[in-house]
Amino acid sequence: MTDLFPRSAAYDEEWVNANRMGPNVLWLAESLAERMTLEPGMRVMDLGCGKALSSVFLAREFGLEVWATDLWIKPTENWERVREAGLEGQVRPIYAEAHQLPYAEGFFDAIVSLDAYHYFGTADLYLENLARFLRTDGHIGIVCPGFRRELGPDDAPDYLSWYLREGAYSFHTPDWWRDHWRKGGLVEVTCADEAPESDAIWQEFIPHTLPDEQAVIRDDAAGERVLTFSRVVARKR
Ligand SMILES: C[S@@+](CC[C@H](N)C(=O)[O-])C[C@H]1O[C@@H](n2cnc3c(N)ncnc32)[C@H](O)[C@@H]1O
Repeated sequence: MTDLFPRSAAYDEEWVNANRMGPNVLWLAESLAERMTLEPGMRVMDLGCGKALSSVFLAREFGLEVWATDLWIKPTENWERVREAGLEGQVRPIYAEAHQLPYAEGFFDAIVSLDAYHYFGTADLYLENLARFLRTDGHIGIVCPGFRRELGPDDAPDYLSWYLREGAYSFHTPDWWRDHWRKGGLVEVTCADEAPESDAIWQEFIPHTLPDEQAVIRDDAAGERVLTFSRVVARKR
């Protein structure tokens, strides 16, 4: 995978696996960075950062100032990881719920969200709430599990039924996300595609999942190949 993710390849696999909360988040971050401008000194919110691996990666790789924001993982735990990485001056762990963010309006140059936005960002009015914290011309970028076609309640492949019950019905196509974000007219969508490395990301995830999820990913790869990752970037007008 060194070819697909040359920056991530420099990171300790054991560190990634010990702290993983889903698909390899360094890979998601590296894929997103292909479509976003990230420059030294930029103030970036990493929303739903989990164990802050992506925050560490983005701070180190691009010289960003990162506010590592999460609900399930507490900041004391993330601070430990930030200190171990020697990034105390660049990464600040923050405990917050996505609808009650403790930030000043217009503060961030960019907001990123990796394998998290589908938990809270599918509501029509959410982007307006979040975009308040971006400066004009700032960018928001997400990568989250997605589908290659929108699944209605009656036309999902059988092998996906367990996954859908577990919440995968919040997965969407890149086109769905593009329309979702364009509706309010707040942003210009600059990218809405499948992360080109999607199949590799799902395959790498298999050994780290529970048997039911493994079965879904394997059956999908052998069948319709609905699973992908949606990568979406937009500029605030
Ligand atoms: C599957 S984990 C992914 C974590 C991390 N981005 C990664 O890929 O390793 C989803 C994350 O979304 C965060 N999340 C879910 N709902 C949230 C909410 N309402 N507000 C803030 N964070 C939320 C959780 O705290 C969790 O860490």
